[in-house]
Amino acid sequence: MAIVSSNAGAASPRREPVLDAQPSPEESSGRPDDGLRPKRLDDYIGQAELKQVLGIAVQAALGRGEALDHVLLYGPPGLGKTTMALVLAEELGVTCRITSAPALERPRDIVGLLVNVQPRDLLFIDEIHRLNRVAEELLYPAMEDRRLDLTVGKGSTARTRSLELPPFTLVGATTKAGSLSSPLRDRFGLIQRLEFYGQEDLEAIVSRTADLLKVSLSAAACRRIAGCCRGTPRIANRLLRRVRDVACVQGRQDQIDEGLVTQALSLHRVDHRGLDAGDRRLLAQLDQHHGGGPVGLDTLAAALGEDPTTLESVVEPFLLQQGLLVRTPRGRMLTDAARDHLREQEAA
Ligand code: ADE
Repeated sequence: MAIVSSNAGAASPRREPVLDAQPSPEESSGRPDDGLRPKRLDDYIGQAELKQVLGIAVQAALGRGEALDHVLLYGPPGLGKTTMALVLAEELGVTCRITSAPALERPRDIVGLLVNVQPRDLLFIDEIHRLNRVAEELLYPAMEDRRLDLTVGKGSTARTRSLELPPFTLVGATTKAGSLSSPLRDRFGLIQRLEFYGQEDLEAIVSRTADLLKVSLSAAACRRIAGCCRGTPRIANRLLRRVRDVACVQGRQDQIDEGLVTQALSLHRVDHRGLDAGDRRLLAQLDQHHGGGPVGLDTLAAALGEDPTTLESVVEPFLLQQGLLVRTPRGRMLTDAARDHLREQEAA
């Protein structure tokens, strides 16, 4: 399977790199994780339901000699949407053309992509909720009728010309399925959500990555990394690379134990629940300066010197998911679990 990538732009809010589930610039340009990605459905760990649904769709499409129906993958960052698109292309034996919506700024960007598509190719558009209207409207007939409607000329001489396209599969990925327009969403034949991974699957992923990186982890070390990665393989693999750095410096790549993982995690200020310094700062701010809340997002962001959007979209989701923070109509509130966690950390 060939991979063709055009990935310009796509800036996202940046924070502590180790625990941020967004790809780092290196990862989005496809370097460090490339060799670590599973290539086939059988190698892809977790997401059992997704694998079952897509496996059947692939088998059926191959049996009929048709292109796979268009697929929308949605869910939090770092769970393997790009990886799944690459796996699908491999299973189908076709080329995967990778791009992201912010790179399709001008009409000619999407036109260029579509006119170059080969029969049954897979076109992957990341962050598809960010497509502009023109690009989106060019996609509708392309997805539905395999037709590219081009406007030639200007003003009163403008005419529409239609180009026939070969059968192809569009795989769209988004962290915000709700931001997709319904006409676009309705054109996907398969709409699948990726879930956070459980401890067992994460341990299997960490162990697989350790083998690929040729480092030797004890079972306890593997468990520890899996427990701190916020249910997200991208974070698990990044933590493992930071652990490997410490092991390298100490000449211990072949004997990484829990103690070494603890050293690396504390170097990056990641605690046993997978919270980092920024998370704890937010919880401590609420606890110590606002009596546990409720406090409005803007007030909290100003007190922490953070941008409210970053706070809301990057810092808060994991704290909410962990039951450490609640959102009420009057603002954010700390939970008893968060108070216990802060006390525990102070005592440690
Ligand atoms: N590496 C990252 N995500 C993975 C997954 N779901 N399965 C196997 N290896 C992975």
